Amino acid sequence: MTHIVPARPADTNATADQLRATLAKELTEARRRTLWLVAPLSDEDLHRQHDPLMSPILWDLGHIAAFEDLWLTRNLTGRIEFSEMPGLYNPFEHPRRVRGTLALPGLGEARETMDEIRTRALARLETADFRNGPRLLLNGFVYRMVLQHEYQHDETILQTLQLKRGSPYRPVERRPLPPPIDIHRPGEMVFFPGGSVEVGTNDRSAAYDNERPRHQVNIEPFWIDVTPVTNGQFLKFVEAGGYRRRELWSDEGWQWLSEADVVAPKHWEKTLGGWTTRTMDLIRPLDPARPVCHVCYHEADAYAKFAGKRLPTEAEWETAASWDPSAGVGRRYPWGDEPWNPELANLDQSAFDTAPVGACLRNVSPIGCYGMIGDVWEWTSSDFRGYPGFEPFPYAEYSEAFFGSEYKVLRGGSWATRPGAVRATFRNWDYPIRRQIFSGFRCARDA
Ligand SMILES: [Fe+2]
Repeated sequence: MTHIVPARPADTNATADQLRATLAKELTEARRRTLWLVAPLSDEDLHRQHDPLMSPILWDLGHIAAFEDLWLTRNLTGRIEFSEMPGLYNPFEHPRRVRGTLALPGLGEARETMDEIRTRALARLETADFRNGPRLLLNGFVYRMVLQHEYQHDETILQTLQLKRGSPYRPVERRPLPPPIDIHRPGEMVFFPGGSVEVGTNDRSAAYDNERPRHQVNIEPFWIDVTPVTNGQFLKFVEAGGYRRRELWSDEGWQWLSEADVVAPKHWEKTLGGWTTRTMDLIRPLDPARPVCHVCYHEADAYAKFAGKRLPTEAEWETAASWDPSAGVGRRYPWGDEPWNPELANLDQSAFDTAPVGACLRNVSPIGCYGMIGDVWEWTSSDFRGYPGFEPFPYAEYSEAFFGSEYKVLRGGSWATRPGAVRATFRNWDYPIRRQIFSGFRCARDA
């Protein structure tokens, strides 16, 4: 498999022709990946709603194409009329729980539609004016928005595949991961002395509206875990009766626990030989060195209390991931500004698994946190809200519609995230009860 790293910020010196060529190549590569992921699936697998939380995969495919049609053809000529395509693939008209009842086309027809839309999008790209065109086109933004949308739906499809009914999903191939290494003590922390830092970005070529503007925040001194919490650490919580101890849970967390009736992270199973975990078709004894995955916010929060710690705020997380205190600047990624490659972090799906914590030796931030990008999304204690001076662009339904106390922010991407869809400033959000996502966490503590 080739590793193209798409959706980087625009090289401002690139000529329009170079930018057009790069974007066309990235669109082609994104589609190749989407089709590669679904290649092992039968028609029935593609049509079926495998879980009430997820769409039939054919809906994702149709929606990816409809979104591209809307933003790379229609909304580039004249006024922006819709933020989502009316009809079958509009997520607001057809919430996930009813998508299993929609009359979806077969894969052949879906691919014809995808190809037809792509042909028109590429034709429009040839005359795209990245300097004087509509604001959507400036620096090639709208193309990266559409690319990231496809990358994000690829991760959604992987969530569906992890929940697949019938025989488990078997990937075409699995990229090998680095071996475990033994340099970190579980729960070890590093210190940030506090002070004024900058978070967010002003980038307008790839970043989303919710990442802007870059702004200063005052951070109190804090401690943060060197690595994400591992299965081994989380097992101690399970074995100490963590799921039964009321004092460790918030009121909402306890409420969720009583209704959900769970005793361990999703996809953990207790067998006669001990606990096992499953990722797609791979079942193995619980690996204490890998980050715990498929936990909801409430489980993360309860564990943190058990450990005498708390979850970091998203500003603390971003500081720990990217702020270089000696230079007084933020980095694009923990390791610097160098574009991702497979040695740097466990991203980009093809490993189909988490790696042991700390295994990517260069995936370390200036203050010494490992694995902040890749492996598992990390829950933070922050509600999803606009930064001071937030401006919705290009449509309020992307972020603004979700601002408020209902959602918690997750950071850092997972093994199932494409590299073009994550950076130190990237903000994901979900309901605090969700655990079908590839989510883990690390803990923080006041100084
Ligand atoms: Fe979407």
